[in-house]
Amino acid sequence: MFITFEGSEGSGKSTQINMLAAYLRQQGYEVLVTREPGGTHIGEQVRQCLHDVKNKEMTAAAEVLLYSASRSQLVREVIVPALENGVIVISDRYADSTMAYQGYGRQLDLDALGTITYFATGGLKPDLTILFDIDVEEGLSRRSIGGVEMNRMDLQEIAFYKRVRNGYMELVKQEPERWVIVDAGRPLDEIQNDVRRSVKAKLN
Ligand code: TMP
Repeated sequence: MFITFEGSEGSGKSTQINMLAAYLRQQGYEVLVTREPGGTHIGEQVRQCLHDVKNKEMTAAAEVLLYSASRSQLVREVIVPALENGVIVISDRYADSTMAYQGYGRQLDLDALGTITYFATGGLKPDLTILFDIDVEEGLSRRSIGGVEMNRMDLQEIAFYKRVRNGYMELVKQEPERWVIVDAGRPLDEIQNDVRRSVKAKLN
């Protein structure tokens, strides 16, 4: 089973992924956690390039292709082999991030992004995608006090993140059976309960 976590900055995805992975391992499942961009030796190099705040001249098209290059490597090198071995794969972001950030955020052509994504992934889609939804301003302030390293994508104007959040909602509308929306503004254990419930429902 392939599970992806999506959401805006500061939504707390990574913490919840670690909690879920520990829980599933306790239940006897083999679990692989990965992230985008990155997750492979090549992908981590691409991540550095994408997130380097000095790369101000990067075009929106180059940005899409780099995220997609990292994704393509991750799918072939890590995700597909693990799924073939019956492992539960959990990814911190996947192709929906490209639609939300580059499509709705940067306002690039959605059909073109769909084609690029299909080429990069061979059409591999998650079985379940959990959206961590949080108010944009709250997410950004959580992120700035969270001691995380700021990257190139943290330098956008507020309207960009609002388009991203609305974009995610559009993606949910297009494929409601794949998505679960979790209100990420609540205490950690409440969020984790919702996450586990949706994963268990899919596993059954
Ligand atoms: P994160 O590791 O903190 O989630 O940062 C990843 C950043 O990259 C985040 O701002 C979202 C952005 N991103 C895209 O813009 N497009 C993509 O396809 C992916 C995977 C991430």
